[in-house]
Amino acid sequence: MIVFENKDKVFVVTGTASGIGKSCAEQLLKSGARVIGIDKADSDLKCDSYEHHIASVTDENALRKIIDGVISNYGKIDGLVNAAGIWGNSKPFYDVETSDWEKIISVNLTGTYLLSKIVSYAMMPCRKGKIVNISCLRGTIFRNNMTDYASSKGGVVALTSTMALDLAPFNIQVNSVAPGFIYTGMTKNSFDNEEVRKASEALIPEGRLGRPEDISNVVMFLLSELSDYMTGTNVYVDGGYHIQK
Ligand SMILES: NC(=O)c1ccc[n+]([C@@H]2O[C@H](COP(=O)([O-])OP(=O)(O)OC[C@H]3O[C@@H](n4cnc5c(N)ncnc54)[C@H](O)[C@@H]3O)[C@@H](O)[C@H]2O)c1
Repeated sequence: MIVFENKDKVFVVTGTASGIGKSCAEQLLKSGARVIGIDKADSDLKCDSYEHHIASVTDENALRKIIDGVISNYGKIDGLVNAAGIWGNSKPFYDVETSDWEKIISVNLTGTYLLSKIVSYAMMPCRKGKIVNISCLRGTIFRNNMTDYASSKGGVVALTSTMALDLAPFNIQVNSVAPGFIYTGMTKNSFDNEEVRKASEALIPEGRLGRPEDISNVVMFLLSELSDYMTGTNVYVDGGYHIQK
């Protein structure tokens, strides 16, 4: 078993009230890190090294305040995980209301950009840092009725690679993890339907839905020194879904 050691390190994680973000926070806490969680919802994570902030990733002023506080309390940020996100409207693009389109783009793409920008300024003077964005299989592999969500996640894939280029001179590595079908708060309603779950499992070579820790295991690697020569990459963690035709 691989044990990550993150004593004295400080990480900011979004989406920590549920699913993948929560699992990332739990693993980081287990590894001895201090974790600052940001979510629009409250969290049931209870630990002396965990600090929860209720805020939307679309609220630039609130994010700045939180990060200013982290820097004045701890002096640095070792890593950021952008996991907050919402599902799309599941309609053809021509039936999506413009305001609904803007909401998805603003949370999934602009939210990731905003916090990464603010945190980058805190990391650059240290000439060291890790940013991990949670993209999606659907950022690169498509089906119908998902232009809003797929565009937001395709944007995250592009954002990841282009941020990686801008931040490489500062020794800050930026990668994204593209989950497949993971059982979380976002997908519970669909996957609790046995027919939907079985149909989804039949599409996955590994034959099962993913668990939040399948994703956070890879995030832990991307936040560690083991991945220092990896940057700008989108890593599929999908039980093999994307390799099929
Ligand atoms: N579950 C999957 O199958 C799957 C697949 C691919 C990608 N993803 C991505 O993984 C990430 C995590 O999703 P999850 O499956 O754990 O879902 P989830 O719903 O369990 O967790 C998402 C969290 O993000 C928070 N959030 C939503 N909007 C926010 C905002 N504006 N500001 C702050 N917090 C906000 C929610 O409150 C929630 O706690 C998302 O970006 C999602 O798109 C999930």
